[in-house]
Formats: sequence, C-alpha cells, structure tokens
Amino acid sequence: MSTISGPLTAALGTVRLRSPLIAAAGTVGSVVDFAAVGALENYGAAVAKSVSPVPWEGNPAPRIGSSGIGMLNAIGIQNPGITAWADAVGPRLASVGVPVWGSAVGGTPAEFALVAQGLEQAGVAAVEVNLSCPNIEGGTMFALDPAAAAAAVAAVREAVDVPVSAKLSPNAEDIVRVAAAVSEAGADWVVLTNTAWGFGIDISTRRPTLTRGVGGYSGPPLKALAMRCVWQVHQAMPDVPIVGCGGVATADDVVEYLLAGASAVAIGTAHFATPRVGATIRRDLERYMRRHRTTVTELSGGGIPW
Ligand SMILES: Cc1cc2nc3c(=O)[nH]c(=O)nc-3n(C[C@H](O)[C@H](O)[C@H](O)COP(=O)(O)O)c2cc1C
Repeated sequence: MSTISGPLTAALGTVRLRSPLIAAAGTVGSVVDFAAVGALENYGAAVAKSVSPVPWEGNPAPRIGSSGIGMLNAIGIQNPGITAWADAVGPRLASVGVPVWGSAVGGTPAEFALVAQGLEQAGVAAVEVNLSCPNIEGGTMFALDPAAAAAAVAAVREAVDVPVSAKLSPNAEDIVRVAAAVSEAGADWVVLTNTAWGFGIDISTRRPTLTRGVGGYSGPPLKALAMRCVWQVHQAMPDVPIVGCGGVATADDVVEYLLAGASAVAIGTAHFATPRVGATIRRDLERYMRRHRTTVTELSGGGIPW
C-alpha cells in the first residue's frame, strides 16, 4: 500500500486519502469480496452497499437494465440488515487494504443513527448517509427536503465519532440548499450525486425496463447532471468538501470533476463492465499529473468561471 503523500493525495476536510478515487456504494458489494476482483489498491476508499436497520428484500427482477450508454436500476437496496451485515462483513474489513466506508439508509433519523452506530462498531472508517431513501415520516425522499436531510445527518452525527458524509440527489430542486442544510447539520463532506430518476421501456414486450417502472439512471449520461451539482455547490460554498460521483469512466472525467470543485471522485457503474477500471484511471491520472506538473489538491476547484 502506498503512503498518503504525492500528487494523488486527496483531502476531504481532515480526512486524507492516498488517491482521489473512491469506489461508489452499491457497485462493489460489501467491498470485502470485490477486493479479490477489483483493483482496490488504486482507491482512497471504498463504500460498501447501503445497509438498513432490518433486512430488506429488494425489488423483484428485472431490476437492472440498460438505456443507451447509461444504466437503469431499482435494486431496492437489498441487504441483510445491520446486525447480520456487521457479523458477516465487520471481521473482514481490516483485510481489505483500503479504508471501507459504510453507507446507512433508514426511514427515520433514528433508523439512520442506529445503522450508523452498527457500521461504526463493525469497523468502518466513515459513514455515508444515503439520503436517496423515502422518509417514512415525511413522505418524500430525504435528499429532496433540506430539513429532512439535515435531521437524518444530525442524528447520525450525534450517534458516531467517525467522519460523516451526506449523499445527495441530482433530483433535488435546489441542491445548494440541501448541501448547506446537511453541512450545517454536521456532514464532513457531501457526495454529489446518487442516481437520477430515469425510465425505459422495451418495444417488443411493451413493458418498462424495470418492474418498478421508474428507477435510478447512472453511467456516462449522469456526468453532466452530477457535475452541475458539484459546480453549483462549490461556487456557493467553496469550503464544503465534495466527492463527485456520476458517469466517471476515465481519468479525464476525474480531472473534470476536480476542476468543477470536487476533492475526490467516486466510480460506480463503470465497475460493472470493467471491475479493474480503477487501475486504468489511476495510471492515466498519474500521467496527467506528470504531464501537467500538477496535483489533485491543486486541480480541485481550479475551474475558472467566465
Ligand atoms: C446497481 C447499483 C446499485 C447502487 N446501490 C447504491 C447503494 O446501495 N447506495 C448508494 O448510496 N448508492 C447506490 N448506487 C449509486 C451509486 O453509488 C452512484 O452514486 C451512482 O450510480 C452514480 O455514479 P455512476 O454513474 O458512476 O454509477 C447504486 C448504483 C447502481 C448502478
């Protein structure tokens, strides 16, 4: 494992990463098994699939499909619940060789806090609050409502000592307001973004691509939407650390996110076609840094408004 210094070193507030690359939640399983097939030594951290207070079965198949060069999914956050997750995954976390961050979901702030505590006790290095989840008290998705999002983050902040991040949605009407609310509530950084709502239909069966109809759209077409969020939040609040996430497949994508204002960049859907994509991106990123005599921290927020 390389040390935390050099041109690829990234910083999210006080958290230092050996690489700006992060494996996005839900695209590398619980991380521990992905370690055998992925190229995790190239990442600064890897985020395990979201975990809920009790087991969630997920949605019936088909719950994944393609749409152009993007991907639709409505997995429904299938997971064994925090107790079983901690038993199965916790003892293996230290062997992964990269910091593993947990991802919490819940229907109420108290549920988020309960999961976050379980994740922390299991040994994760940080907790990501996945706010793209229906709020059973308020009806809407946490990530769409600044007050609900802040309440969930505040509950988690109160419950754990490890760093806490808030994963937001590009579907939010005003991403800057949501980012401001969760930062105020104690998030150490924001993750921009989760998937965008999308829909597809099969012209031979006339059925929607997903049994749920509407699902999350990810992959290359998401990049411009997520980058818009990064740019807007960074312009409004340059001190809030940002993990950019959406459609990253190349080192150039990473550089774009950094210039727009991200401090680190997550890779998601690209893992499905190329599990070791992080190795190529890291290699090309190093070449870019050498050619341009620059560093991740120098590039971060380096975009110049007209
Ligand atoms: C199949 C699949 C499952 C996902 N599961 C989760 C999840 O459990 N928790 C979460 O926060 N995000 C989840 N995501 C969202 C990704 O972490 C990421 O935010 C999104 O896909 C955008 O990045 P990408 O375009 O690089 O995939 C999932 C995405 C996909 C495609």
